[in-house]
Amino acid sequence: MSRPSYCVLVLCFAVLLFGSLSSATDISFDGRGLKIDGERTLILSGSIHYPRSTPEMWLDLIKKAKEGGINAIETYVFWDAHEPVSRQYDFSGNLDLVRFIKTIQNEGLFAILRIGPYVCAEWNYGGFPVWLNNIQNITFRTNNEAFKHEMRNFTTFIVNMMKHENLFASQGGPIILAQIENEFGNVKNGYYGQDGKDYVQWCADLALSFDVGVPWIMCQQKDAPQPIIDTCNGFYCDGFTPNNENSPKMWTENWSGWFQDWGDRRPHRTVKDLAFAVGRFFQYGGSLMNYYMYHGGTNFGHTSGGPYITTSYDYDAPLDEYGNLQQPKWGHLRNLHLILLSVQKTLLYGYRRDIDYGNMMSATVYNYEGKCVAFLGNANESEDFTINFQDNNYTVPRWSVTVLPDCFTEVYNTAKINSQTSIMVNRPNQADDGSEPYKLQWVWRRETIEDIKKNGLVRDSVITTNKLLDHLSVTNDTSDYLWYMTRLDINPGDPFCDKTVTLYVHTYGHVLHAFVNSRFIGTQFAINGKYEFVFEKNVKLKPGTNDISLVSVTVGLQNYGDDIKDVPIGIHGPVQLIDYAANVTKDLSSNEWIYKVGIHGIKQQLNKVHTRHQHNWRAEALPTNRPFVWYKTTFPSPLGTDPVVVDLLGLGKGEAWVNGRSIGRYWPSRTAPKDGCPYKCDYNQPYTGHECATNCGKSTQRYYHIPREFLDDRENVLVLFEEFGGTPDDLTVQTVTVGTVCAHAYDNNNLQLSCQGGRVFTDIRFASFGDPEGTCGSFKRGTCEAPWALSYIQNNCLGRESCVIPVSEYYLGPTSCHSSEYRLAVEAVC
Ligand code: GAL
Repeated sequence: MSRPSYCVLVLCFAVLLFGSLSSATDISFDGRGLKIDGERTLILSGSIHYPRSTPEMWLDLIKKAKEGGINAIETYVFWDAHEPVSRQYDFSGNLDLVRFIKTIQNEGLFAILRIGPYVCAEWNYGGFPVWLNNIQNITFRTNNEAFKHEMRNFTTFIVNMMKHENLFASQGGPIILAQIENEFGNVKNGYYGQDGKDYVQWCADLALSFDVGVPWIMCQQKDAPQPIIDTCNGFYCDGFTPNNENSPKMWTENWSGWFQDWGDRRPHRTVKDLAFAVGRFFQYGGSLMNYYMYHGGTNFGHTSGGPYITTSYDYDAPLDEYGNLQQPKWGHLRNLHLILLSVQKTLLYGYRRDIDYGNMMSATVYNYEGKCVAFLGNANESEDFTINFQDNNYTVPRWSVTVLPDCFTEVYNTAKINSQTSIMVNRPNQADDGSEPYKLQWVWRRETIEDIKKNGLVRDSVITTNKLLDHLSVTNDTSDYLWYMTRLDINPGDPFCDKTVTLYVHTYGHVLHAFVNSRFIGTQFAINGKYEFVFEKNVKLKPGTNDISLVSVTVGLQNYGDDIKDVPIGIHGPVQLIDYAANVTKDLSSNEWIYKVGIHGIKQQLNKVHTRHQHNWRAEALPTNRPFVWYKTTFPSPLGTDPVVVDLLGLGKGEAWVNGRSIGRYWPSRTAPKDGCPYKCDYNQPYTGHECATNCGKSTQRYYHIPREFLDDRENVLVLFEEFGGTPDDLTVQTVTVGTVCAHAYDNNNLQLSCQGGRVFTDIRFASFGDPEGTCGSFKRGTCEAPWALSYIQNNCLGRESCVIPVSEYYLGPTSCHSSEYRLAVEAVC
């Protein structure tokens, strides 16, 4: 073979050079916005955390975001997941950050990379690997050499990985912004003093030294050094001003809902309010806004933080936990995004003028190259206002923003929703012939109750010492479970012999189980966000040797606060036996304690599909309400493409695996408070995370997502470790899909109605165009209505997966009354 000629080589080199140069994007900024290749660009971004879904879901989520008018995807980088052991890295499966960013790129969207590496995010330990604790003299997030060394190491690793794959915009990639740290400004002042200030400067210097060719941001960091852009996080950021007039107004976290704790209600933020917040932000000069979250997803395995963050991280986001469109949230925001994008040039380049009408009513006008855009904002919580704007009257409902893209036509008001509401239903997994819901058959095994053997030792114990140790210092978070075991000899003459006395344990949580002489004594767990508690239960000690085994259990490690490393966990003491009647106490805190990490079944890999311990499962006498039991069953994959969940109602608390993969901790027996869920969800005031809560008195989380990629075509194995006691009798595998579709749309709009998963409309339960009343499920006819609404919708929607209804008298017929605004109400069944 001949060697390539010099000319060919030069040509190749030129192509390479030209190719990479031509695809590079220049990212800069000024006080009005981020500039992409010199052009100010409006960024509407959505957070999707790659480990909270599966690689197979990513494309669909990103496509749905794109279709929803989103032009950038934001994610954190999860240090503890990528570096589970110091200097051993993992980017496999749903940790494949490069694949995630490339999926964003292939869809033509921008990416925002929040490297942190502290991320908060309701993620275990805020994203810090727990092995950091073992580094001498380390203090997190301050001017501490040991910490800075580790932070530099990991951030450098990530930046180099992105550079190597040409993922920064400066290299032709999609990443237009990078973040260092996370909301450090919220903690540092009170806690770290000057060291905190030095650390902020160090973070900035570190970030800039990476020379990535895109701007860096710090969120909630008033003293972010130039040229780092300080950004805002919150439910509203219209009043935010960056710390430098050359920095654009950016909103890195617009909380689309809120997270949920075990034992708490389910939070909801109305789309009306969310759209209002977005409208206000862009009315007042915003240039970049990111929904936290656009898709929340699932905390698989032990990734949830807290303590006590649920396995679902649905967040009430525009895409629900499973990736379904959450309607009307997705659609109503989409309509707003499309309008904002269509006028972005005028917003980012135009001359801005604010008009104050008093009573929290304002107008903002942008003029540029003969074009005019206006926002009419009513932040009054109780009154609608009609104002005269440029010789026309506009009625702006309370707590809403109207957008006039040409300073004349009202095309959008944040309080008037013109997209469908989808009511999701769960359908049971059917047996092969499609007739009956598939009935699960169970086998079970006991979990070993660890105790001290005759020789005074414990199999696989890690430490024996005369004091009570912090839970995390022993487990290093390699398991949720830590056994604290001690032995005491009771003489027949001992005042505690053969008598019912109290076992007293002071613990910092999160859960405690006690066994005496291998007999279960009781369980207690932290409630109401207070993790420190006292366990007191009656016990009876026999003459001779008595063994006490206490199991301390964590339920996610703290992710927020200025001292997460110093938060005590587990049994710090005292541990005592108390005879309250006789007023005598025996303190066991300085006894010899033997520690063992984890549960035996995990060591035996009972959670895996094929192990040598398969044969010890029993089919008979299925136990109910017994703590420390393993259950196993098999089930066929549900047909179709709709997302799959398992309903675990009936169980206590534990962890579930499907085909060997953890779908997370479960705790369906934990219920939300009975009160605090409003009858009607409608507020016109600043959202705080509590208005519109649902699920009062019900199981905090009964459904657990099984991503379809975890499933096998033939048979699937579901394994449960039940820690509290419950019954698996009624468990069912189900699919989640759109059941009913409702709409309440205003005239002169096009209403799109859609089912999901290939299903079609089978019935139109209600249709009226005029002045109908009520809400989805209880619509009522008004005083007038157009004659053809029902038949038009029947003709155009029945038998179809989706249909478009032009909401106007032309198609639906003349309405027989005079209203300023006609509405269409529809209820259809998929
Ligand atoms: C912010 C934080 C996020 C997330 C959010 C609440 O303060 O930056 O990571 O924790 O709160 O969901």
